Amino acid sequence: MITKCLFPVAGYGTRFLPATKSMPKEMLPVVNKPLVQYGVEEAIEAGMTTCAMVTGRGKRAIADHFDISYELEHQISGSGKETYLASIRDVLDQGVFTMVRQREMKGLGHAILTGKSLIGNEPFGVLLSDDLCINDGPGVLAQMAELYKQFRCSIVAIQEVPAEETHKYGIIAGESLKDGIYRVDEMVEKPAPEDAPSNLAIIGRYILTPDIFDIISEVEPGANGEIQLTDALQIQAQRGCVMAYKFQGRRFDCGSVPGFVEATNYVYENIYSAS
Ligand code: G1P
Repeated sequence: MITKCLFPVAGYGTRFLPATKSMPKEMLPVVNKPLVQYGVEEAIEAGMTTCAMVTGRGKRAIADHFDISYELEHQISGSGKETYLASIRDVLDQGVFTMVRQREMKGLGHAILTGKSLIGNEPFGVLLSDDLCINDGPGVLAQMAELYKQFRCSIVAIQEVPAEETHKYGIIAGESLKDGIYRVDEMVEKPAPEDAPSNLAIIGRYILTPDIFDIISEVEPGANGEIQLTDALQIQAQRGCVMAYKFQGRRFDCGSVPGFVEATNYVYENIYSAS
């Protein structure tokens, strides 16, 4: 089914400066695991074992993280410390990692288009690792991959946000088909509360059909002067179909310091200390 997931990981992480001056924001650890590894684990669990990373300058640590560190392996081989490497070894056993560099930062839509050569002509997942999602049952991408079997069109994950926060997100409006599933008829990137068509915000999980690439090439710069994925999805919704899905699970906005701290406390108390 869907075997590839795109990870746009070229962003600067300015909100975490100076921590992110020479370290990719995706490598910030939530307790003992970098943010991007949580995302990769979610994709692999959904069967998307090819993880296609759209990286940029200063992001080598991400490529190194998803590779063997021979010296380290040799150093701790046979010792009790090997258990600390278990989760990343599992990821390396199951995943394939491909990379392309985004040379200029022109927005999420542009990042997705840059990843086209790694995806080809097939449906694929997109995961923004700033949004950390934690589930008891199947992860958000796995839930969406299941839904894709039914609808066969692009799907965005959504959650309700307070009206005063609509300017931080892509906001959708649409017809509710059944509990938590909407057929999208409108999408706006980062509207002011008075312009928002609803309070249903897109969070960083998508299933996209490959026609999105041609649509992105047509799109003019939108909010913040950037090529916006939301604008391309709006066109796709008008021409065909885009679904929105209120996912099961908990999401932390790790692109902001308060959200990151909240995630850290949650993971420490509920996952790390419990293991
Ligand atoms: C991006 C998308 C936005 C979405 C958000 C989810 O914005 O453009 O539509 O709601 O991710 O996190 P960013 O947070 O990169 O500004």
